[in-house]
Amino acid sequence: MLNKIRLWKNQNNSSTLRDKIEKIKELPVPDHVAIIMDGNGRWAKKRALPRIAGHHEGMKVVRKTTMLANDLGIKNLTLYAFSTENWKRPKNEVEYIMKLPEEFLGTFLPELIENNVQVKMIGYKDQLPLHTLKAIEKAIEQTKNNNGLILNFALNYGSRAEIIDAVKKVLNDYQRGILKEEDLDEERFSSYLMTSSLPDPDLLIRTSGEIRLSNFMLWQLAYSEFWFTDVLWPDFDEEHFLKAIEAFQKRQRRFGGL
Ligand code: FPP
Repeated sequence: MLNKIRLWKNQNNSSTLRDKIEKIKELPVPDHVAIIMDGNGRWAKKRALPRIAGHHEGMKVVRKTTMLANDLGIKNLTLYAFSTENWKRPKNEVEYIMKLPEEFLGTFLPELIENNVQVKMIGYKDQLPLHTLKAIEKAIEQTKNNNGLILNFALNYGSRAEIIDAVKKVLNDYQRGILKEEDLDEERFSSYLMTSSLPDPDLLIRTSGEIRLSNFMLWQLAYSEFWFTDVLWPDFDEEHFLKAIEAFQKRQRRFGGL
């Protein structure tokens, strides 16, 4: 398993890193990690580069994070790549981000398949450009029988809209007699959300120093542990990811109990 890890740093660091990974795997790792990948624009600005250069660098971190999550035995990784509000950005930036799934999957799909990763997506597919949707659907189709890590892209995703849509479906099923009022509980309601096939995240990571949820998985994050870092997404490396997992392993989760 370990030799599969694509280590991101030089050889000198790699044995320390391997030790760390092995140590972390002695304790339970989160089943579902969700990440708000923030700070691409600032990373680029600091280097006097166009914002899209930050997104491109961020895409490389998606690959590395996916591989490490897989090696750690994390079962689900949800990455917030584009929100329903991100359409407000300049046209060239939106167009560029919409090309990233094609570039990412065009390059790394064979590697994802080789590593038994299953690709999924949450978000509003019908507003995505056709080329973006096609790339994602091809990856979903080609990885549907894989049973390793689920790599779930949140693309054109917005949690409030998701909840309203779920309520509409609930009302519809109620009117048609498919759902009775007494049968509607939290678990049943969750089944109407886009994340119905996934467990709730155990750990939420947000990079870049912003301490907010930005309309991400508002229902699903009710009992998740949060870990924030000032590190900008393109600088987020394996040390940071392992630090987040270690912090999670030290938390005491009580889910409202004692
Ligand atoms: C937030 O940073 C980042 C985004 C809105 C885009 C995230 C996209 C990627 C990391 C690449 C996705 C890759 C695939 C394969 C889909 P920001 O632009 O808001 O940064 P800023 O707050 O510094 O301006």
